[in-house]
Amino acid sequence: MNHLSIIKAYIKFLFKAQSRYKIHSPFVYKYLAKVITNKKNDDKLKVINKLRSELRNDNEILQIEDLGAGTRDQHAMKIQRRVSEIAKRTSVPKPFAKMLFRTVHHFKPRNILEFGTSLGISSVLFSFANENAEVHTMEGSPEILKRAKSSFAKLGRDNIHTKCGNFDNILEAKLKELKQLDFVFFDGNHAKEPTIKYFEECLKYHHEESIFVFDDIHWSEGMTEAWEYIKQHPASKVTIDFFFMGVVFFKKDLSKQDFIYRL
Ligand SMILES: C[S@@+](CC[C@H](N)C(=O)[O-])C[C@H]1O[C@@H](n2cnc3c(N)ncnc32)[C@H](O)[C@@H]1O
Repeated sequence: MNHLSIIKAYIKFLFKAQSRYKIHSPFVYKYLAKVITNKKNDDKLKVINKLRSELRNDNEILQIEDLGAGTRDQHAMKIQRRVSEIAKRTSVPKPFAKMLFRTVHHFKPRNILEFGTSLGISSVLFSFANENAEVHTMEGSPEILKRAKSSFAKLGRDNIHTKCGNFDNILEAKLKELKQLDFVFFDGNHAKEPTIKYFEECLKYHHEESIFVFDDIHWSEGMTEAWEYIKQHPASKVTIDFFFMGVVFFKKDLSKQDFIYRL
């Protein structure tokens, strides 16, 4: 999708977006009105914002490989990239960082799996949002991962576990190791087929309380189609489209419903 198509899709999204006061599902109303707006525990977000701004000002040059779509970058084939450039193009925007932080802080998932570590901003966010969680993050670019690991060490994040490799080669073993997925953040290789494939693989390890979050669900036509597939899947109960991200809940007592909501 080019920029114009994304703008058109966003305008369409704004027209469809629901007011939380018109949402009848008590679970979704509580999530939108009380969980993702709850600033009470946001002090740790300051650490994440500091890390983000340090990385955005870091001129170190890394040699990187491009492993898939979804780096929000038209020039991703370059092999030399500044840390500052990577941080500006790939890290989660602030309102979504808040939404992710507050979601993890509220639901306290223990086993967190992340597709796409990049410089580690979202891994650090999950690690602080639930200090009792084990955050497993996968990244295909060794140089980028090395940089992320130095931030994890600097911030004393012992609950982040990294795995370097192409998701296609390392996912199966990682899932067998984890046995159960409480929270998954799909933030790498943003194309239709891989997204659906990773979703299906992770579904084998989900349970009623699991939460799956997909980044960039309207980034391309393929991603919009992947999101449609995920929404319609019989296992998905409540889905919430925040335009830049989509959240899936699997609780059996919820009726199958899709919501569109602007953060
Ligand atoms: C959007 S960035 C992740 C950003 C990170 N979650 C954050 O918010 O700070 C996506 C990352 O996924 C990695 N990636 C993309 N496709 C991959 C694949 N097939 N296997 C392994 N890593 C991949 C890229 O190298 C990139 O660093």
